[in-house]
Amino acid sequence: MKNSYSNIFAFNKKILKKVINILKKGNIAGLPTETVYGVAGNAYSRKPIKKIFKLKGRPNSNPLIIHYLNFDNAKQDIVINNNFKILYKYFCPGPITFILKRKISSKINPIACANLNTVAVRFPKHKVLRFILKEIDFPLAMPSANKSTRVSPVSAKDVYDEFKKKISLIIDGGVSKIGIESTVIDLTSHPKILRPGVIHKKFIEKTLKLKIGKNTRNKLVKSPGIMKKHYSPGIPVLINQKKYDGKSAYIYLGQKYKNKKNFFSLSKNQNLNIAASNLYKTFRLIKKKGYKKIQISKIPNKGSGIAINDRIKHASNS
Ligand code: TXA
Ligand code: MG
Repeated sequence: MKNSYSNIFAFNKKILKKVINILKKGNIAGLPTETVYGVAGNAYSRKPIKKIFKLKGRPNSNPLIIHYLNFDNAKQDIVINNNFKILYKYFCPGPITFILKRKISSKINPIACANLNTVAVRFPKHKVLRFILKEIDFPLAMPSANKSTRVSPVSAKDVYDEFKKKISLIIDGGVSKIGIESTVIDLTSHPKILRPGVIHKKFIEKTLKLKIGKNTRNKLVKSPGIMKKHYSPGIPVLINQKKYDGKSAYIYLGQKYKNKKNFFSLSKNQNLNIAASNLYKTFRLIKKKGYKKIQISKIPNKGSGIAINDRIKHASNS
């Protein structure tokens, strides 16, 4: 069914056919995932990859995540190791991305991997995306559907707001449940978290029965895409704020300032998973309301709070 946005479509058989056709022809589409919305193209083909980089204004040095239906479909492109097998079994399909060595015979277009010999692979859970992956014989290269350095979209309408009609088809799969990007873990040597997410370091350590080193995301280099400026709502963000300045939008946890103008709670009962799922939504809402600055109170650095702090710290570097 069509709605008031002529390139946003609800999912049905007809649209499934249409999107498959678009992807097979080397074009791109805006698709839902359980984490955030992505812009997808055939990972084995040069043309759609080029289009994705151009659309996002993304530096060529920042590789894309390749999305597969399952292990069997991925194994021809990646070098499998034991840690991957274990984590796949526990967490997939789900919001976790693995950095693995790329097979020399891999069909993934090298541009998608920024010409590295590693590749980021993910097995998404969203039903709509899984329907699509079942119907095609190639994986999907799919970064978040936002302009480079900006906040990821969590609804079809957010994707529209980013790119308007520059994408011919966006599928509406509802609001993304998780609301922040997948955990990225490097498994090419001793496991390292490159981007925290709702699958926490602690879960992973328990599952692999080993200790993961300190999160290297802010120092480091291994994730080529990690730029200082990222996840920016387009207005200044100040973190660890104790005192409200009287005019900015103030983001906090709980209900202390319930119904008070300019105050935005990420979760009334301070649930950090819910808070994570509301973060980008709240950034976009605040921007839309015309605020000039965002203040954020201190967020506990545990569980999904680690991922929230990672994103807001980057946002505050803008
Ligand atoms: O939840 C998600 O992961 C979403 C949805 C759409 O699946 N996708 C997403 O993609 O967040 P993107 O492109 O916005 O972020 C991918 C991250 C970047 O930080 C990139 O640098 C890193 O993964 N990455 C990709 N390939 C890599 C590689 N070979 N080595 C290290 N980091 C890599
Ligand atoms: Mg992104």
